[in-house]
Amino acid sequence: MSRTRTSDVLVVGGGIIGLVTAWRAAQRGFATAVVDPEPGDGAARVAAGMLAAVTELHYGEQTLLGLNLDSARRYPDFAAELTDLTGHALGYRRCGTLAVALDADDRAHLRELHALQSRSGLDSEWLTGRECRRLEPMLAPGVRGGLRVDGDHQIDPRRLTGALLAACERAGVTFHRTWAERLDVAADRATGVTTTDGTRLAADRVVLAAGSLSGRLAGVPDAVRPPVRPVKGQVLRLTVPKGLAPFLSRTVRAVVRGSQVYLVPRENGELVVGATSEELGWDTTVTAGGVYELLRDAHELVPGITELPLTETRAGLRPASPDNAPLLGPTALDGLLLATGHGRNGVLLAPVTGDVLGHVLTSGELPDVARDFTPLRFAAVREEQPA
Ligand code: GLY
Repeated sequence: MSRTRTSDVLVVGGGIIGLVTAWRAAQRGFATAVVDPEPGDGAARVAAGMLAAVTELHYGEQTLLGLNLDSARRYPDFAAELTDLTGHALGYRRCGTLAVALDADDRAHLRELHALQSRSGLDSEWLTGRECRRLEPMLAPGVRGGLRVDGDHQIDPRRLTGALLAACERAGVTFHRTWAERLDVAADRATGVTTTDGTRLAADRVVLAAGSLSGRLAGVPDAVRPPVRPVKGQVLRLTVPKGLAPFLSRTVRAVVRGSQVYLVPRENGELVVGATSEELGWDTTVTAGGVYELLRDAHELVPGITELPLTETRAGLRPASPDNAPLLGPTALDGLLLATGHGRNGVLLAPVTGDVLGHVLTSGELPDVARDFTPLRFAAVREEQPA
């Protein structure tokens, strides 16, 4: 016989985005539940945690840039609040980022990025190769120049997840450690979900925050189904042995032969090297080719990395949307909201996502900062498409 549990807000998905949403909802007094077989798992276990609004700027993404910068500005208070509340250190380092070029093509690409950043009013400074190596002596002698961006920082997503879980528990969030199988809809309204064990989780509002799986929940009407697809990223973790001088003092990244590579040094000696970007559906296999390419490109940037122990290899799935921007807030189905589609920026966008969803759950309105990210923008596109 099926059982029914009821809450004001039910969040489907317990990754960083689901957890921050649940935490903010519970803080606002809503009886909140999260449904996820393994809260805290998923892309957050893989992500490097770069807070890189400026160095990850791409052509045509100026609207997203505004949201990314807004969230980056929220990070200091967000991190302090979480740490004060839970006692968890988050590995939040205001270390800055150096984006470098290895050959003439990379240098031209970086010059263009610099021009785009300047036109967008962002702080970044062009450095010669020698100046780059003065900042980061482990860089390869062949580095031709780079961009110093002191405002792009990092956080450890695993620690962030641990803190968000603790914050949710303190705020009274209920965890249902199982899969949501189907969205329940009655009288044109989302009324909860049914789980794989047949339990019905009833709720006034359902927030779909299931990362790359957000488009797969059965029962979601096609007209409101989020257009989110998985983009695979393979990531390596190396360890700088204790006693060895700091390897890198800031995030170092480059585009090598058209592929992004970045090295993110943590204070505890972990060095995260990422990431591939592969459109391979639901595949999360770590491949020899992926590891080879990451190590080859990272080695070209920082030759000394081949001395370091390789301690972990993983692959995760970015939840990508058609315009690379997230879907935040109410859908055309009453009672169903989205917090998904964060693509490459999920960790960066956690603070603003939590605040936006908290606001919209309370007031019914999207705050100004999120108006461009309404899921309704895709409903309009669908209507224009020929049947
Ligand atoms: N934000 C870095 C990545 O998605 O690889």
